[in-house]
Amino acid sequence: MAFTNVQDFREVARRKIPRSIFEYGDGGSYDEMTLRANRRDLESLRLSQRVMVDMSRRSIKTRIVGSDVSLPLIIAPTGLGGLFYADGEIHGARAAENAGIPFCLSTMSICSIEDVRAAVKTPFWFQLYVMRDRGFTRSLVERAVAAKCSALVLTVDLQVGGQRHRDIKNGLSIPPRLTFANAFDIASKPRWALGVLAGRRRSFGNLEGAPAAEEGLASLAHWVGGQFDPSLTWDDVDWVRSIWPGKLVIKGLLDERDAREAVERGADAIVVSNHGGRQLDGASSSIAALPAIADAVGGATEVLFDGGVRSGQDVLKALALGAKACMIGRAYLYALASGGQRRVEEMLGILGKELDTSMALTGVHDVKTVSPETLLRRSDGSLVGHDH
Ligand code: GLV
Repeated sequence: MAFTNVQDFREVARRKIPRSIFEYGDGGSYDEMTLRANRRDLESLRLSQRVMVDMSRRSIKTRIVGSDVSLPLIIAPTGLGGLFYADGEIHGARAAENAGIPFCLSTMSICSIEDVRAAVKTPFWFQLYVMRDRGFTRSLVERAVAAKCSALVLTVDLQVGGQRHRDIKNGLSIPPRLTFANAFDIASKPRWALGVLAGRRRSFGNLEGAPAAEEGLASLAHWVGGQFDPSLTWDDVDWVRSIWPGKLVIKGLLDERDAREAVERGADAIVVSNHGGRQLDGASSSIAALPAIADAVGGATEVLFDGGVRSGQDVLKALALGAKACMIGRAYLYALASGGQRRVEEMLGILGKELDTSMALTGVHDVKTVSPETLLRRSDGSLVGHDH
């Protein structure tokens, strides 16, 4: 089958991997209102068509957090990549390297920092959760320094875990277990079982040796509840800033006040994000929160964006509202599950092409110059779209 858009990768992923893994990636928290709002609000924005401008020279190259990139995308940190495809994070990092964009490895990845470091030449980013065990948290930062990671992404919106009903109903466990309830599902995915279940890693590669990881992670939610620290404050951000010498990205901001605080605490970039609708259900869509945050801090820091991005058109909309680049999480996981590195590269190629074509049709030559005018507005200046 020919893959023509992100939706195609999603459909293939759904058929290829066990339901509990697919739904971990696909789903959101509680009633998934914010998950849906992310898509709905992006879809509702309208691009402004322009014609008869010489569009023979176009560029989608830009700079993100001090590095040249070939398109304004970053592979978002996602948990459990290596359960979507054997050695998944290595596939993702290699695809990003070939495509010329940053790959961000999650604390909750299956391949470890060292596994990924050994597999690529280009530095990658590392995403950090500050855990109760500060000694262990510090050791993660030191490992990211040793691996020459080019940015540390501190996620600040998962102090307490939002409940994901689908994970509970599916009995998601790490490592995955064969049970009576999932036996038929797993038996119908023999390729996945051979790759992932028979592969070398099935649990959190970065947490090996951490006392907490040895206890058996019956349920992810239970483990997060025990390990993540609900007492975190901005002072902990100062602590991370003091032990991490490189670029610091603070991820998970939806409020202008928090964004200003992040800048004061020394963020080189922030990510406007509601964690892909996986945390506070009922929170604003990311795209609705973006313009005010970009206005408030866009001059002082780089503003990155995630939440619902499934096409180059979506990327263009986010750039028009002040983002410098977008992180893609689910689009990456769908492509990864569909066939590893090759499919991730294909998906990135599709997004790049969609962005390039949509720029041409909106009269934009250079992705660095996308402006608010790329979006359609009403006569009073307000954006055409849901709730904007
Ligand atoms: C982890 O960050 C998750 O959203 O599952």
